[in-house]
Amino acid sequence: MSDIAATRQILVTSALPYANGSIHLGHMLEYIQTDIWVRFQKLRGHQAVYVCADDAHGSAIMLRAEKEGITSEQLIANVHAEHSADFADFLVNFDNFYSTHSEENRELSELIYTRLKEAGHISTRSVTQYYDPEKGMFLADRFIKGTCPKCAAEDQYGDNCEKCGATYEPTELKDPRSAISGATPVLKDSKHFFFRLQDFTDMLKQWTRSGALQDAVANKIAEWLDSGLQEWDISRDAPYFGFEIPGEPGKYFYVWLDAPIGYMASFKNLCSRRPELSFDGFWNADSSAELYHFIGKDIVNFHTLFWPAMLEGAGFRKPTAVNVHGYLTVNGQKMSKSRGTFIKARTYLDHLNPEYLRYYYAAKLGRGVEDLDLNLEDFVQKVNSDLVGKVVNIASRCAGFIHKGNGGVMVEANLAPELSSAFVDAAPSIADAYEKRDFSRAMREIMALADKANAWIADKAPWALNKQEGKQDEVQAICALGINLFRQLVIFLKPVLPTLAADAEAFLNVAPLRWDDHKALLTNHQLNAFKPLLARIEPAKIDAMIDASREDLAAAESTAPAGNGELVKEPLAEEINFDAFAAVDLRVALIEKCEFVEGADKLLRLSLDIGDAKRNVFSGIKSAYPDPSKLEGRLTLYVANLAPRKMKFGVSEGMVLAAGPGGEEIFLLSPDQGAKPGQRVK
Ligand code: MSP
Ligand code: ZN
Repeated sequence: MSDIAATRQILVTSALPYANGSIHLGHMLEYIQTDIWVRFQKLRGHQAVYVCADDAHGSAIMLRAEKEGITSEQLIANVHAEHSADFADFLVNFDNFYSTHSEENRELSELIYTRLKEAGHISTRSVTQYYDPEKGMFLADRFIKGTCPKCAAEDQYGDNCEKCGATYEPTELKDPRSAISGATPVLKDSKHFFFRLQDFTDMLKQWTRSGALQDAVANKIAEWLDSGLQEWDISRDAPYFGFEIPGEPGKYFYVWLDAPIGYMASFKNLCSRRPELSFDGFWNADSSAELYHFIGKDIVNFHTLFWPAMLEGAGFRKPTAVNVHGYLTVNGQKMSKSRGTFIKARTYLDHLNPEYLRYYYAAKLGRGVEDLDLNLEDFVQKVNSDLVGKVVNIASRCAGFIHKGNGGVMVEANLAPELSSAFVDAAPSIADAYEKRDFSRAMREIMALADKANAWIADKAPWALNKQEGKQDEVQAICALGINLFRQLVIFLKPVLPTLAADAEAFLNVAPLRWDDHKALLTNHQLNAFKPLLARIEPAKIDAMIDASREDLAAAESTAPAGNGELVKEPLAEEINFDAFAAVDLRVALIEKCEFVEGADKLLRLSLDIGDAKRNVFSGIKSAYPDPSKLEGRLTLYVANLAPRKMKFGVSEGMVLAAGPGGEEIFLLSPDQGAKPGQRVK
């Protein structure tokens, strides 16, 4: 008998990633969270559907395409291919990954707009805005730069100053310039279209308190609701990459109008291939299907105010819930390009197994909106100790005895029924944790079971019994139960670790496991050969990923197309005071020895003489110096007071200075002739 009530119909979305950049590990937090939840629902036998799409419209995309010398359509096609591969390789199993630049989305956007207009929820008025006379376009705030009206800092954006934190209108900036052409913008009037959000105040007050939102989110929204809702500007003037507003030549829907409609459009496109799905069944106002949006905390207002109001006004159903997560930090800080912690999905995949990250995120994700830290040392430690040391270990300990001692057949015996039934009894609580998105609790409860299994096996010590005469049956019984417990753990972990589960199913010689399968045990069952299921993370892989992320940065910041001889442009770093500069202890160093490091793709080991001391430094400059002996005897500049960094190969004590974008173009710095090792650079 199944403990799952009726089959639910569940439509789930993640926010649509912008089509003008790569997916990074911050984004992946959301897609992995959503994917785990959807896989859990499917494993339980529900009809769950997971749709997403690229968010393809807006001026940023248009301008980037121009810069690359391709059409917007080509750009979004390229990015769609890149994003699709990233998601697939992270095992994010969308039922459809579509694009907002689609016919379905155009039709639905027009339909929703027309219904809102007919119901009187659209108004128009003239708006005065900065206009770039050279480029012939209105300028969004982030495309205007100038001098801060409060603190006089130069080169600040049109709506806020990064220096003093002031917010202002673009018209308050001094010496405004277009960030696109450099021209001085002029003020110009234009007719804009507005969605009358305030018409939905009562509905929103009720809906936001209906259980659709986490408390912290509902409280934040209540502040906005209490201070009074304003109408929302939903139009942009040509040139713009998006959908033209019906009957209004030269006026386009603002990207955030058609972006959430992209959820519907992606689903509608899927319906054309999956006849069992009914578009109306999921979206009509009286639909009994469930609808969940997973989003980050930065886009809450779009999903909890504008979007439900648009749906209500156009006669569609509203979301069952909007699930908000916090932001990812790496090693306790905002992801940083220079620290190498701005890690693209692809860079991660080049070095590490996606399931390591899926497990780590699951182990840290709760129901709340707090930020989540990817601490790279903790990551290595936790994955190695939980997945390899606890879960996979059970199977590798037991499989050999069954293969050698009984031809791979699990005997029919249960030496510790209280243990296997403890696993069955734990299942409802684990399922409840998954359902509530409290994945960290689910992982804790699963690992507590793994600990129990390991402790029992260690106590029975089949490896010792196996050496005694007449104990073979007991060895077989211990190991058969061990494999059964492993199988139950695999079922519980399957939403998080789909590849591990598939490999385990192959070893166990069973059909794809479903949630309810945890209630029965395998007896008299033939196993297939055991292959190692998951390797430990080698810390050197983490270092290599960080180094590669620093190189990504160099590549991304070279604004000039490769090979045309132009200088690579890097934005100037934030100003520092003299004390901060003086705190860096820069020295002349003599490279006494320079050699390859075994097992490292990018590193050289430098032995430095800095006058009164010797230092050992690892430097990622191998690509530029294929013959390290050539650096021996050369002087360079060295940061002497940088905290030592422990690497797989040893401790790196400080850094040598080099310039250039990376690859073959790295140029080690040297002082003029006559400088002596140990001299301080001032
Ligand atoms: N295109 C909009 C969403 C439109 S939905 C109708 C957008 N795109 S995004 O690419 O910037 O972000 C996509 C999702 O990733 C958002 O939910 C965002 O919150 C999330 N994240 C982006 N960076 C993140 C972190 N560093 N950490 C966690 N989530 C992050 O917004
Ligand atoms: Zn300022």
